[in-house]
Amino acid sequence: MEESRRTEQVVLLHSLKRLIVSFVCFLPVSLVGLLIMLLLIYNSFSVFSLHLDPIPPIKSTLSLNQQQVPQHHPSVSLSSAATLTSSSKSDSSLLLAVKETTLGLAQKQNVSSTKTERRDELTPATATQKPQGKTRQRFKTRINSFLIKSSCESLFFMTWISSLESYGDRERFTVESLFKSHSNSCLILVSNSLDCERGALILKPFTDKGLKVLAIKPDFPYIFKDTSAEKWFERLKKGMFSPGSIPVEQNLSNLLRLVLLYKYGGIYLDTDFIILRSVTHLHNVIGAQAVDPATKQWSRLNNAVLIFDKNHPLLEKFINEFSRTFNGNKWGHNGPYLVSRVVARFNTSSSSTDLGFSVLPPSAFYPVDWTRIRRFYRASVNESEVNWSRKRLTHLRKHSFAVHLWNRESKKLRVEEGSIIHQLMSESCIFCNSSSLHFSY
Ligand SMILES: *[C@@H]1O[C@H](CO)[C@@H](O)[C@H](O)[C@H]1NC(C)=O
Ligand SMILES: *[C@@H]1O[C@H](CO)[C@@H](O)[C@H](O)[C@H]1NC(C)=O
Ligand SMILES: *[C@@H]1O[C@H](CO)[C@@H](O)[C@H](O)[C@H]1NC(C)=O
Ligand SMILES: *[C@@H]1O[C@H](CO)[C@@H](O)[C@H](O)[C@H]1NC(C)=O
Ligand SMILES: *[C@@H]1O[C@H](CO)[C@@H](O)[C@H](O)[C@H]1NC(C)=O
Ligand SMILES: *[C@@H]1O[C@H](CO)[C@@H](O)[C@H](O)[C@H]1NC(C)=O
Repeated sequence: MEESRRTEQVVLLHSLKRLIVSFVCFLPVSLVGLLIMLLLIYNSFSVFSLHLDPIPPIKSTLSLNQQQVPQHHPSVSLSSAATLTSSSKSDSSLLLAVKETTLGLAQKQNVSSTKTERRDELTPATATQKPQGKTRQRFKTRINSFLIKSSCESLFFMTWISSLESYGDRERFTVESLFKSHSNSCLILVSNSLDCERGALILKPFTDKGLKVLAIKPDFPYIFKDTSAEKWFERLKKGMFSPGSIPVEQNLSNLLRLVLLYKYGGIYLDTDFIILRSVTHLHNVIGAQAVDPATKQWSRLNNAVLIFDKNHPLLEKFINEFSRTFNGNKWGHNGPYLVSRVVARFNTSSSSTDLGFSVLPPSAFYPVDWTRIRRFYRASVNESEVNWSRKRLTHLRKHSFAVHLWNRESKKLRVEEGSIIHQLMSESCIFCNSSSLHFSY
């Protein structure tokens, strides 16, 4: 009995030992396993949670990088940005992407297209409306009251985007010749520099004579509103807020004339013309600057004169083209080349009549090619030159509404007494015994 008890005790002891051993050997293993599992779970959890939440930030930094990389290759950023933005807004988004990458603004911005879109809509409301609010009211009400009280036979527009100092005798003479042949018409001079007291002094001789001229600062957001120029302008402004804002306005002149005519209708004129006779009977015309001698078809149009009714569909196409293809680095691309490009697309006679406009021959507004303008400023030196001048003058008086002087080519030329220009000026002057006939440029 005692032996069996002993063996039982031994067995018990053994099993106890085993238990202890198993405790010592196995439990810690499972504990370690448990701990490891817990750690793994925790780890994987944290790994997952780390991966789940920050995916958008990771993606956005990636796409930011994509935008930063092509900083020196705007054409690449065009395509990468195009895929990121919604198709409906692609025109203007493309520009935005180019402007932002070139200026390194992309870093500041999340790339999500909806967010940038919302930012766009916010900025005009918050950033620009406050400072522009007063000008906006003034622009709208001043133009309207000017038009109401003036009862204009027709409405002319000019723009002057340079300084007041550079508004000289030539520019004043364009206004003079304009009123000589259109004394009952109105002229709106859209200009930052002329819309002030010193500008009013320059225009005083005209207003003293009862001629209807208004110099007014442009309110671009108001003018561009509800056209495709609106979004484009917002983007340009955001990209160009850096100091030099004058070059922006220089390029804006090409757009401004289109939108002014689209909103108000009338006649746009550059400031380097001599107007020879009334154009008030012309409607919806654009002038050709050059004609292909072989085909007799126009080869180049110019935007220095535009005569269009309000809301004309061709103007809308010009504005769309400007917003879509603006290139601030190519001269003429947004101006003369633009109107040529667009009209060439509606070249077939049927669609040209559909849009309702006509192209006038060079003799109408551009009777002198810019390469030959020099001769028109010189006095005749012998009989054959006198004969030539007389013939040209007769032709101009008969066939031309105005003579474009190609300021870029001719601004340094002196008007010699007896030259063709001098004779035209003496016929289209209002203040004929003032100094304007004897100025030298
Ligand atoms: C992206 O947007 C979020 C929330 O709109 C903002 O907290 C974060 O700072 C932005 N990141 C960058 C790089 O602008
Ligand atoms: C404006 O156009 C001129 C060429 O006519 C160009 O040199 C200039 O860079 C342009 N400026 C802007 C802001 O686009
Ligand atoms: C315009 O059409 C005429 C024929 O109708 C053609 O001879 C001419 O080359 C075309 N011009 C342009 C710029 O497409
Ligand atoms: C007239 O003057 C021009 C320019 O000086 C000259 O080229 C031309 O040969 C002259 N003609 C005559 C007939 O003298
Ligand atoms: C100039 O014209 C007159 C008359 O029109 C003519 O008699 C004369 O021969 C011409 N002179 C020259 C140099 O062509
Ligand atoms: C034109 O000249 C005459 C004499 O030279 C002068 O009496 C007159 O006041 C001048 N008129 C103007 C508008 O300057």
